[in-house]
Amino acid sequence: MDPGAHAGGWSYGVSGAQPGYDIQACRARIPLLASCIPMNNCSQAPQTDATRAAAVRYLDSWNDSGMDWDAWLTEVALAKAEFAKLIGATASDIAVFSSVSEAASAVASALELSGRRNGLVVSEAEFPTVAHVWLAQGPRGGRVSFAPVCDGTIDPAVYDTLIDDRTALVSACHGYYANGFLQDARRIAARARDAGALCFVDAYQTLGVVPVDVRALGVDFLTSGNLKFLMGMPGIAFLYVRPEVVASLHPTVTGWFGRADPFTSTARTLDWSPTASRFDTGTPPVISAYVARAGMELINAIGPDKIRAWHEVLGRRLIDGGRSLGLTVQGTQDMAQKTATTAFVVRDPPAIEDAMRARGVLPTARGDVLRLAPHFFTTIDDVDRALDLLAELAQAR
Ligand SMILES: Cc1ncc(COP(=O)(O)O)c(C=O)c1O
Repeated sequence: MDPGAHAGGWSYGVSGAQPGYDIQACRARIPLLASCIPMNNCSQAPQTDATRAAAVRYLDSWNDSGMDWDAWLTEVALAKAEFAKLIGATASDIAVFSSVSEAASAVASALELSGRRNGLVVSEAEFPTVAHVWLAQGPRGGRVSFAPVCDGTIDPAVYDTLIDDRTALVSACHGYYANGFLQDARRIAARARDAGALCFVDAYQTLGVVPVDVRALGVDFLTSGNLKFLMGMPGIAFLYVRPEVVASLHPTVTGWFGRADPFTSTARTLDWSPTASRFDTGTPPVISAYVARAGMELINAIGPDKIRAWHEVLGRRLIDGGRSLGLTVQGTQDMAQKTATTAFVVRDPPAIEDAMRARGVLPTARGDVLRLAPHFFTTIDDVDRALDLLAELAQAR
């Protein structure tokens, strides 16, 4: 019998497959793995020894020195630099926010929408919060048109027809939160640029699992929070702004950290920072920055390309294994067009999520699907156990 054959009787020729890094050393850093199989990484990744230590470092600093703004703001700058490293940018290309919603709102506030060029082309695969920000620009003149999701994916050619010389901005998520469909951001950004429009990409579902180089993609904005595949916590999000467009943008969602020098700024003068920090607003989320940096350091140290290679193995196993157990996969089954998340159509996803959690596997329910999202520390055995449990529960309904 194939040594990697599945207890349920199937095997996929990935027996013995190993990631290109020391997975056991990675697993030793995640206490939750002793009791659970976290497959909810598209929603919240588990704590590591490093992220915990980073949070404690901030609490100790606060407790021991009362206040240490130099160290705290240095940590925010280091977190920006770590994010920049992850996406092939430099720290001065990055602004910091408390959420992706806030980052998108700041970008929207910098758009001039009262004239002829007021079109906002928005993918229907956007996490709802991002689409809501664009829809909220209606009273300012914004005119939203949606690139529709069909069978869980978006036809890239749709953007070619929707984008025209009246388009101000295209908003296209890199990975679809519902089922892991991966959009061709480079193609979309090129089409936007040809039409004289800006391109905004929400990469929350891809950073940490898909290598990203913002310069190669040619996007104008790229944003992500940290609590999913970047191994961080709530309260922080980053925004890349392409340096060539910074000087033309004046966000009305602003604050003292958006000034040339926040600490000498005065009430009467609105002097814009010459870099992406003009998108910064108020006091940054310091404790979240400590944790975010630690999480991103781990991802950068392993290497997004090595993580991606392992996800291709895990994703294939999820798709083929799920199908052989009679489960229905939503969206594409082509790993070249998928992030880490695989979605299965089941009856009553929230009830199945609860039942799986009770038995030590953490999935996430969304609409009519149940999502299984492994990460760099996930083993093939974890995937098989999650699939077996899901199939058992789905069949019982
Ligand atoms: C792709 C994507 N964008 C945005 C969000 C939410 O952004 P925020 O709550 O930081 O505004 C999520 C999930 O929480 C998401 O999956």
